[in-house]
Parts: sequence; structure tokens; C-alpha cells
Amino acid sequence: MKSPAPEMVAIIDFGAQYAQLIARRVREERVYCEIFAYDAPWAEIAACEPSAFILTGGPESVLVPGAPHLDPHILAAGKPILGLCYGMQELAHAAGGTVVPGTIREYGRAELTVDAAQSALFLDVPGHSQVWMSHGDTVTTLPPGFIKLAHTSTCEVAALGNPETKQYGVQFHPEVRHTEHGRTILRNFLRQVAGLHREWEMSSFVDRAIDEIATALGGANAICALSGGVDSAVAATLVARAIGDRLTCIFVDHGLLREREAEQVVAAFRDVLHLNVIVVDARRRFLDALAGVEDPEHKRKVIGRNFIEVFEEHAQALAGVEFLVQGTLYPDVIESKTPHSKAGAKIKTHHNVGGLPEEMHLKLIEPLRLLFKDEVRRLGLELGLPPHIVNRQPFPGPGLAVRVLGAIDEERLRIVRRADAIAREEIERAGQDYPWQYFAVLTPLRSVGVMGDFRTYGNMVAIRAVTSDDGMTADWARLPYDTLQRISTRIVNEIPEVNRVVYDVTSKPPATIEWE
Ligand code: XMP
Repeated sequence: MKSPAPEMVAIIDFGAQYAQLIARRVREERVYCEIFAYDAPWAEIAACEPSAFILTGGPESVLVPGAPHLDPHILAAGKPILGLCYGMQELAHAAGGTVVPGTIREYGRAELTVDAAQSALFLDVPGHSQVWMSHGDTVTTLPPGFIKLAHTSTCEVAALGNPETKQYGVQFHPEVRHTEHGRTILRNFLRQVAGLHREWEMSSFVDRAIDEIATALGGANAICALSGGVDSAVAATLVARAIGDRLTCIFVDHGLLREREAEQVVAAFRDVLHLNVIVVDARRRFLDALAGVEDPEHKRKVIGRNFIEVFEEHAQALAGVEFLVQGTLYPDVIESKTPHSKAGAKIKTHHNVGGLPEEMHLKLIEPLRLLFKDEVRRLGLELGLPPHIVNRQPFPGPGLAVRVLGAIDEERLRIVRRADAIAREEIERAGQDYPWQYFAVLTPLRSVGVMGDFRTYGNMVAIRAVTSDDGMTADWARLPYDTLQRISTRIVNEIPEVNRVVYDVTSKPPATIEWE
């Protein structure tokens, strides 16, 4: 039986910096939501049957000619609306209030005073609290039926609402951490105002997704490139639930994986999940292609090209394949269709091994395209994937090739692989609260050391461990000295070619996470 569609919130994006963050916060409240550009066709939005709308902020004034405006269908739909910043101005404007250009522009921290403590929007929010403001224009006359709910010292109407029509607006950003009670305000809108009470569960997502995949594929066959990472693993597992043996996964072992990684991936997919997996041992081919290559960009290109060739050779040998499964996530989808990106925001592409064979004329199937990373992990667990795959730390597509600086050969790969295994083992032994990412790098430096009575001239290994939310920024992890000491002692004792271990204490920016 098909499970009911989840209650959903449509987030209307006026070009906000924070649209994605709003979506994350709504999902954290276990309410399903999707982002639409402000000028998305109404039919596309209506097809999702939204139960409520959130209007985002935007960079412009509603008073400027050509400013993006609210589609009148949204007001006419009669559903609860929450406008944020520009979204509040737009709501006030469209509902018949007056908005005038402000004399003071206010950005950053401000103290919010709640004037209508009985309002559902401010349930459990103290009378005074810190918010993150951003405003230029001011609402001077409230639209009919609206009341003022809060103010700050420079913004007379910092929140407004009409309890009858369930339309609300706040001039600040409830989605950012600096707004102390932002989560409560968003939750109040979703639960108290809009009355969304069903939790969005992964199990219902699974049923619907399997149905949709089965319909989309008809009787056709599909292939998927498994990287060992969580996204392709979850995407493949989900598609296999829908079409079983008609999915073939191709796992290219390029010899740049971490210790025991290839066998673990294959064991998980073949023996635990019973997926149809072809393992291609291309270690020699990659090593030969990389011989003498020192420049990291060049390494990436060689690996990307060979990956595609190997994948293509094996995919073409399979009969009747029409679809290619990819583990694209929602942040990439948002990037490509919001007004923000139309205005020229750069899309990050350099991290994908991808660009998979266009000339193969395969249709794409992207079953995770509406999910965030943490949701993909939850989905993976729901599908029965082993925790070591689901909770895998990020690992670059070109693998250890970017963690051996300079030219790569079998011996240098062996050294970094062992050093990395030791570092991970010791960090994981130290406790549950692991850094976001941690690994070893083999540097091209050699230095003098002494072992027993002998002078040595050995390799230098660097350990990198960082805390981060998304890899875009990072700080070096304050690992306990004891852990660092155990890592260092074990590496120099167990790997004779290494006589010195250093720890990287640089944040990103200015450094990157990988050394390359
Ligand atoms: P950087 O080194 O740019 O890395 O600070 C940020 C995050 O991205 C990971 N990374 C990659 N991930 N393919 C990937 O899937 C890649 O080619 C790649 N290169 C870097 C890196 O490990 C870190 O988590």
C-alpha cells in the first residue's frame, strides 16, 4: 500500500543567502519541505500540495522596480505563511500594509522585545532575547487584520501576524544560531500555527521512493558506480529495493583506497545487502597511469579519466542498461535552481570523480535528490546498511592519491595506508566524540633521525584531524596529547620508513582540509 504523502512546507526563495539553512531547520523539526524559486510556475508548487509556506529573505527592497514579488496564488491558497526579512516585507506589502524605505539599516545582533506574548508564534519565547536582524525597509502601517507582535530599538515592527489567516512575518532570521530562540519560533510556526503534527519519517520516504523508482524505470535495467561512500551506497540500496537484480553496481578498485576498504565495501554490498556487484581490479592500470605524476590537479585528471574509461568498458558489456543511478543530494539540486545561483553563485563541481559518460546516453536516476546528508545517513540505517558505511567520514574521490604528496608508487601508498589506519584506530579508541575527519598524509619531506645506534633519514608523516559541519570551513581538532603520542609512537615503530610525525594545527581557511 502506498503511504500518504507527507505534510509539506514550500519555501519560496527570494534569493536568500539562508534558504538552504531554513530548509535544514524545517527538516530538523521532522517536517518535509522543498525550496522553490519565487518565480517557479505555480502548477509546480501546487502539485506538491503544500500545507504552509515560508517566504525567505532576499537581497533587495520590495520597493525597488523589478524586485521579486510574491506569486498571488500563494496568498490565494489560504494556507499559513511565515515571511522572513524580505519575505515579511513582501507579505505586508501584498496583504495591504505600507512599507517605506528605512532611514537606518540594521544588520547583526539586536534585542527583540515581544509585545504579544500570547501569540502562538512566540510560545515559550522570553520577553527579551537576542535575534539576528537584517533590515532596511520598515513596515509603517500594518495590513488589515494584522497585529504587531514584537519590536527592537530601531525596528518598530519586528514581527507581525494575523491569527485569523495564520499569516506571520518576522524581520529577523530565526534560522541562524545567533537568534537565541529561532528554533522555537520556527517550531511554533510549524506546529502551533500551521498545525503540522505528523512527523516526517524515513520509513514512509522509503515506501514512496521505491514506488517512484519502480515506476520511473519500468522494465529497464540500471547501473551504479559504487565509490564506497555513503551517498552512492544508499542510492544503490534504495534502487535495488525497487528493481532487485536489474541493478548492477560497479565498484572500481583503483588501488587508492584505505586499508581493507575494498574488501569491506564488497562484503557489505554482496554478503550483507545481496546487491549485484561487479568488482573491477584496476589497481595496476591506475598505478601505471599515475607513474611520475606529481601535480595534484594532474593526478585528479588522470584518475577521473581512467575511472570513466573503466566504468564505461564494464557498463557497455551489460545488456539493456538505460539508467544510471547517482547519489546527488539536495544541496547540489538547490544550488542549481535557486535565484541565488541564477545570479551567478558558483557551483562546486571539482570534488566529483563524475562527469560520467554522457555519450552512453543513460538516463539519470537520483533517488536522494531531495535529501540532506544527515537524512541520507538515517535512510541508510533504515535500509539496513552497516554503520561503518553509513557513518563513513568524507573521503576524496581520488583517494590516497591526494594524500601522498608528490609522485605515487606502491611503496608510498603502503606507507600512507598503514599510517592512516594507525591514526584512525587510535583516534577511534580515544572516545565516541570523533572529529569530523581525520587521516594521515605522506609528505615528500625526509629528515634526519636516530633509531637505536643508527642515524636514519626517513619520511615525514603528517596527521590531520578537523572539526567541521560541512567541510567548507574547519578547525583543527584538539586531540588529547596522549592520543597524539600513541599515534606517533606506533607509526614510527610499525613503519620503518617513517622517522617523524607532525600534527597539522591550521584551520580552513586559510588552509584546506586535504594537503594534496
Ligand atoms: P578541502 O581539501 O577542499 O576539502 O578543504 C573539503 C572536503 O572535501 C573532501 N574532498 C573531496 N571529496 N571528492 C570528494 O568526494 C574529491 O575529489 C574531494 N577532494 C576533497 C575533503 O576530504 C574534505 O572533506
